[in-house]
Amino acid sequence: MSADSAIAAPPRAASVGFSDVGRAFSIRSRRKPDATRDVLSGVRLEVGAGEIVAIIGASGCGKSTLLRIAGGLDAPTSGAVSIDGNPVRHFDPRTAVGFQEPRLLPWRSIADNVALGVPRGTPRVGARQNVDRLIELVGLTESAGLRPREVSGGMAQRAALARALCRRPGVLLLDEPFGALDALTRLKMQDLLIDIHTAEPTTILLVTHDVDEALQLADRVVLLARSEPEGPASVSQIVTVPGHRPRDRGSAELAELRARLLDGLGVDRHGTAHGVAAVTTIPHYPY
Ligand SMILES: Nc1ncnc2c1ncn2[C@@H]1O[C@H](COP(=O)(O)OP(=O)(O)OP(=O)(O)O)[C@@H](O)[C@H]1O
Ligand SMILES: [Mg+2]
Repeated sequence: MSADSAIAAPPRAASVGFSDVGRAFSIRSRRKPDATRDVLSGVRLEVGAGEIVAIIGASGCGKSTLLRIAGGLDAPTSGAVSIDGNPVRHFDPRTAVGFQEPRLLPWRSIADNVALGVPRGTPRVGARQNVDRLIELVGLTESAGLRPREVSGGMAQRAALARALCRRPGVLLLDEPFGALDALTRLKMQDLLIDIHTAEPTTILLVTHDVDEALQLADRVVLLARSEPEGPASVSQIVTVPGHRPRDRGSAELAELRARLLDGLGVDRHGTAHGVAAVTTIPHYPY
């Protein structure tokens, strides 16, 4: 295969299947050396190839854990996850992950950071052209030679997205990718993600705390919730979002879905959760 045909090959979006996924973590103490806590239990979800699915849920309910399991960064204690019908492998090469913070190497240029995503064994010429194309896609061509400290948070996050796309992932796993950005940059990044999905129609699993972001970007929104206060979380609602992207943020239809999802999250219609004022963003407690 020539370098050019390697560049032209579109990423093949993959389907993802979660069948009865459970994850328990050890919470052993001196008195209870074998104690475990179920974080996830019986998670069932089929994500179609090319679909964008947003995962929302209260802090600590297991969203990141589920995403890590989908990428083979963690393993379920029960059930299984498959990609295109085959079991997920350790650090599955069919997936790429993007996090809340861009995690760029400070001593490398933006272009070289993006190039870190290129899989080993890719022909050098093809790899460089692919990196350049993705840098252009995320609007960083003029800044490709800068170091991470010389670019804004939004630009760094765009570089991280391009780095993830270099892997030509069948499934892109994004864990609150815009959570650290200001509101305006966040809206721009949401538009960028829609453009990226149009140009590189990969499957996207997006964990977000922002119900509006979920409704703007996703084909379906999955609410993870516990049925008992200390119990494990599972899928409690799946909402299919009507209309094509980009959607009208002010539509009455989306407002109704927003209210329904906020209700599922335990946030009342005035946006107050656990005594914390919040409009549509769920309070986030990093640990
Ligand atoms: N490696 C681990 N060992 C023990 N417990 C863990 C581990 N990873 C996660 N947990 C626990 O599992 C629960 C779910 O964590 P997870 O990070 O998946 O939540 P989350 O829904 O992504 O939360 P947030 O919205 O705050 O990011 C938490 O109670 C966390 O303490
Ligand atoms: Mg998380």
